[in-house]
Amino acid sequence: MTAAIQIKNLSKHYGSLPALTAIDFQIPQGCFFGLLGPNGAGKSTLINIIAGLTHTSSGQVTVMGYDVRQQWRQARQLLGIVPQELVYDPFFTVVELLRLQSGYFGFGRENWPWIDELLMTLNLADKADENLGRLSGGMKRRVLIAQALVHKPQVMILDEPTAGVDVELRQILWQFVRKLHQQGHTIILTTHYLEEAEALCEHIAILKQGRLRAIDSKAALLQRQPYRLLCLKLRTEGSVTQLPPALADKVGELHNKQLILRLNRQDSLYAVLNQLHQAGIEVLDLHTRDPSLEDVFVELTH
Ligand SMILES: Nc1ncnc2c1ncn2[C@@H]1O[C@H](COP(=O)(O)OP(=O)(O)O)[C@@H](O)[C@H]1O
Ligand SMILES: [Mg+2]
Repeated sequence: MTAAIQIKNLSKHYGSLPALTAIDFQIPQGCFFGLLGPNGAGKSTLINIIAGLTHTSSGQVTVMGYDVRQQWRQARQLLGIVPQELVYDPFFTVVELLRLQSGYFGFGRENWPWIDELLMTLNLADKADENLGRLSGGMKRRVLIAQALVHKPQVMILDEPTAGVDVELRQILWQFVRKLHQQGHTIILTTHYLEEAEALCEHIAILKQGRLRAIDSKAALLQRQPYRLLCLKLRTEGSVTQLPPALADKVGELHNKQLILRLNRQDSLYAVLNQLHQAGIEVLDLHTRDPSLEDVFVELTH
């Protein structure tokens, strides 16, 4: 089957800055895909290249088999993009903007019921005749989401859609995006909220400084960490600095009397607690857990 997105040996420089280097991967049709990475990793650059807004320095990108440069019309028709920045024209009303956008994709009045449905689903119906310039940030973001969907694209890309967004919109958005995914749409999401990515995405790519650090199914990414975490609540932090070296090497985090140790799967809990005891560290409470996507992310990007 043709990939929803295929990226071949893609590089992008801004002047002397390598924003993306030798990126090679594909996103299967129908996948819920997370594109993660710290600020400046190149996520938006990659999305802008897929959208045809930024040109590549070298390499090739296709959307459902259509080259984003040579066959940009077909590629663009298949894509819905919610940009990271709030870009809008303040002089249109919400419904005018959506009908205009729908017109750009060659639709006429027959598409208006779908626009009404989008307005309803995104709780925008009572703002339909409001000028965009007068809407709050959260409402503008809803309009951008509706705008990305007016032409019912097969592939939906959301660039940090929940950054600075309230809980209500976040929930509406995820419900909506899940529904699109169930209907067979390919969803590509970048987010800072790793719990969101962990809850939603089936496949995940992690970028750092323009390079692909990992790409795998979420399950495989989580499983490839060979350790588990021992989370301890201490009476005082005082003597943690005096830990024996074998244990000091395992310290993941120490914050507010919470100590996290990274244990190998075969480490004996009894031996570790004994060492802590001998170092004069009093443990008030403890639990173990498997690494989360956030732990994997920190491991791969720091
Ligand atoms: N238009 C541009 N001109 C010059 N540099 C840019 C431009 N857009 C992004 N960059 C740089 O490219 C790198 C990747 O940026 P970006 O793709 O926005 O990262 P992310 O979305 O992962 O935070 C950053 O170092 C950023 O400063
Ligand atoms: Mg970005």
